[in-house]
Amino acid sequence: MNAPLVDPFARPISYLRVSVTDRCDFRCVYCMAENMTFLPKAELLTLEELDRLCSAFVRLGVQKLRITGGEPLVRRGILTFFEAMSRHLESGALQELTLTTNGSQLARFATDLAAAGVRRVNVSLDTLDEKKFAAVTRWGRLAQVLGGIEAARAAGLRIKINTVALKGFNEDELFDLVAWCAAEDFDLTFIEVMPMGDLGGEDRLGQYWPLKDLRARLATRYTLTDTPERSGGPARYVRLAETGQKIGFITPLTHNFCESCNRVRLTCTGELYMCLGQEDMADLRAPLRESADDALVERAIRAAIARKPKGHDFDYSRQRVDGQVSRHMSHTGG
Ligand code: 5AD
Ligand code: SF4
Repeated sequence: MNAPLVDPFARPISYLRVSVTDRCDFRCVYCMAENMTFLPKAELLTLEELDRLCSAFVRLGVQKLRITGGEPLVRRGILTFFEAMSRHLESGALQELTLTTNGSQLARFATDLAAAGVRRVNVSLDTLDEKKFAAVTRWGRLAQVLGGIEAARAAGLRIKINTVALKGFNEDELFDLVAWCAAEDFDLTFIEVMPMGDLGGEDRLGQYWPLKDLRARLATRYTLTDTPERSGGPARYVRLAETGQKIGFITPLTHNFCESCNRVRLTCTGELYMCLGQEDMADLRAPLRESADDALVERAIRAAIARKPKGHDFDYSRQRVDGQVSRHMSHTGG
């Protein structure tokens, strides 16, 4: 009964990403519509239910937990959840507790997150220009995020910057972003824009800046060496000889990273998505609420892992968006 989770393609599932809210205090153009309708609060798992579910996954062998959203730090009481999860760090069952955040609330939370055992945070930041930042996030203020990052550093957290590569938007900032991260000693990872959510009036194809082009541009100024390093995720890394810094690339569209996928994603309503790019999911909320005993939910988790698909089908190659999934990133978690 306590055998670790292994999927049909012999991939051990050791990494759970949990979206604790679909809400956010930003409205990034590639992520959300300006007038998003969010889930009624009653649909959400309570923090106690999130604890039960995450703890079940930890019992089944999950060693790395990443808290995402939406913006995880806008969920009321979220700190008590981090504090609750720290018991799994203390027991040694969990190796890492991390979060992906837009940074807006880090000034408030950084010290307490560090005290709960968080060692690293991923901060999403696509531009260092105040006006462009306001444009891409619609509601965000750059100064607030930079203040949050500073607070995280002061609390001793390691910082990774995630930058979505956007054609015609941050192409001209490539070298500034790289130099800033080198100077600040932040890791930096670029992400290709993915066809998530309702495209509405937005032109996701027009926003697509293939990372092989970004990489080629980087190579005009730096000497790049591929490194075999893996962070347990889909990123591939290069090292820049001139600065020694490591740059990550996440290329869901130009490079198939599914073979080594070790993760599943839990939404804030208790749906388990076995693949970011597929519609299939398992409802864990019903078995969770049906009984105070965790046997049902563990069975549901195992049944879900047994149908984890081989991979996603995102594809832009035919000049239209294929393999698109209808849910937003804030629903499944980034
Ligand atoms: N494509 C790529 N990345 C996205 N994110 C949100 N929506 C998309 C998208 N359509 C990113 C955020 C953040 C992470 C949680 O996901 O910028 O870095
Ligand atoms: Fe919020 Fe992140 Fe989506 Fe931007 S990308 S709207 S910060 S969840």
